[in-house]
Amino acid sequence: MKYAPFEIEHFFRQHEFSAPYGVSSSDCEPLTLDELLTYASPERREQFEKLWLGYTESQGSPELRAAIAAMHRDIAAEHVLEVVPEEGIFLTMNALLDSGDHVVAIHPGFQSLWEIARASGCDLSFWRQQRCEDGWYFDVAELEGMIRPDTKMLIVNFPHNPSGYLPGRADFERVVELARKHDLILFSDEIYRFSEQDPGARLPSACELYEKAVVLGGLSKCFGLPGLRVGWLITRDATLAYELQELKSYTTICGSAPSEVLALIGLENWEALAARTVDIVQGNIAYCRDFFRRYNELFWVCFPQCGTITLVELTADLAIADFADAAMRQQGVTVLPANVMKFEGNYFRLGLGRRNLPSALEPFERALNEQFG
Ligand SMILES: Cc1ncc(COP(=O)(O)O)c(C=O)c1O
Repeated sequence: MKYAPFEIEHFFRQHEFSAPYGVSSSDCEPLTLDELLTYASPERREQFEKLWLGYTESQGSPELRAAIAAMHRDIAAEHVLEVVPEEGIFLTMNALLDSGDHVVAIHPGFQSLWEIARASGCDLSFWRQQRCEDGWYFDVAELEGMIRPDTKMLIVNFPHNPSGYLPGRADFERVVELARKHDLILFSDEIYRFSEQDPGARLPSACELYEKAVVLGGLSKCFGLPGLRVGWLITRDATLAYELQELKSYTTICGSAPSEVLALIGLENWEALAARTVDIVQGNIAYCRDFFRRYNELFWVCFPQCGTITLVELTADLAIADFADAAMRQQGVTVLPANVMKFEGNYFRLGLGRRNLPSALEPFERALNEQFG
């Protein structure tokens, strides 16, 4: 195969549906169909029940594209292409990158954000996450030094998977300005946007700031609807948009009709769904603060201001992969070591979006007691 195995997907494929507990999920508690339909207007409910199950419009339903555009300033429906979120990454990298292009990508990151470029023969440089006393950051001055005359694309993901890091607005604007100054395509994965605990901290979308940005968004994380498989690409650049659209004819061709109506119901109520996510995450953060305080000789953790995930360091003298292995075998709890995402150090990803996190921390705690008790 052209692409290296997708390690995080491989990991979850082995464990996600067989292990009774997990502490590393990246999404927010998915809604049930019933729950989502309680948000539907009578017209939408009828539309869903009477739905014609034919092919749909290849760029996405006009109403859905308009609803997505309305969540972004100065963006029109014609700038939006409906995709499955992961497909959006695949399309962008395949449509816009060629062997020999220089690409700068955030690291660590969701594997397809850099693997497709690597496997396509691009020259890849990583803009690496750093840690300071009170959390994570990315150094924009370092990024500036990495850009070369032949750099074609800059790939970022804020709020960030896996750290939950969100830059301040001034730093994000500096990143956008760098892209503009060097005429780069800026691929901005914003799938965790809209989950800011303080809505005032929400960054503008890159597509609102820069005409050569390609933005990825979707319903999978902060809106609790990953099973709909609905996401979007947004760009104001007609040439980029054309290339993305053309390639989609080789992947999914068009979206799923039931998912499009359900996605519309979700988007017509996005503020309520985002508030639901923030509520669950904040409850879990409060719970985890107490939990990890009790084990502060074993862990370092910094809780995020947005998103559903963060990284936790196991500071004890045991490899996180060994702990995760023992936790899985002895207690049936999935713990994702961060080195599955190629991040060095003794970290695991903590998922803060699931309602059952407190009960999943019970077998996790038993695993701790077995190893360190
Ligand atoms: C940063 C990031 N981008 C894109 C995706 C792809 O989303 P989906 O799995 O819904 O296709 C994910 C999924 O985990 C992700 O974490």
